[in-house]
Amino acid sequence: MDALKGFQLSERFFDRGYEVFDDLLSPAYCASLAQQLGAAMEQDCILVDNDGVNIKTRNGEELIAGLLEIEQLYREVHLHMAAGIAHLLMLDDLPVAISANYLCRDQGHSFRYHFDRNEYTAVLYLTDSPDLPLCIHPKIRTDPALGESVWQYAKDARDPVQVDPRPGRLVCFHARTSLHGVISRPDVASTTDRISLQFAFDTRHRSFEDQAYYGRAAAALAGSKAQQDRP
Ligand SMILES: [Fe+2]
Repeated sequence: MDALKGFQLSERFFDRGYEVFDDLLSPAYCASLAQQLGAAMEQDCILVDNDGVNIKTRNGEELIAGLLEIEQLYREVHLHMAAGIAHLLMLDDLPVAISANYLCRDQGHSFRYHFDRNEYTAVLYLTDSPDLPLCIHPKIRTDPALGESVWQYAKDARDPVQVDPRPGRLVCFHARTSLHGVISRPDVASTTDRISLQFAFDTRHRSFEDQAYYGRAAAALAGSKAQQDRP
């Protein structure tokens, strides 16, 4: 596989709650990995259509069984983020740690606004899909893991930060304090289906075992409503 290019979190990441890095992988590698992931998800994936989450997904456990390089990408993203975040841990719970999501606007796919339960998330895009941007309200609340959460501003008071998926683009953000979702843009031409990898990190060991999660087959099949923190 291509080596993931190095990146370094700057002060802006801590001030603003997010940071975007471009061209970390070559377009050819992104296209190849997107093709492999798309084919794998045609064969087997979790179809989630519940509580505002309508996606195809494949979790880390299944991904690594077929594409070991995904685990290597997780390790490399961790390496670079850990240079700026003390005690940053990879998660042992693979379905939460790593996921591949497939969204197609014409199939009505989207992912409602939510918070993640892990502290930091990095999303690596493999396709050019501006019709399905990630919208972020960064640092809209304080971290509930540190005590009662306090909202810093109302969602409607500010326009979200919009991150358009592009091959090789990585967005890192504070996932428990930044409200985020994939919001369909019908005014933007669709170029290709949206395929991305999500990597989750935390600075403390936490168990997600007894929590429903959209990337677990059992949760999707059971139609659980408690997929991720509600806003
Ligand atoms: Fe999320």
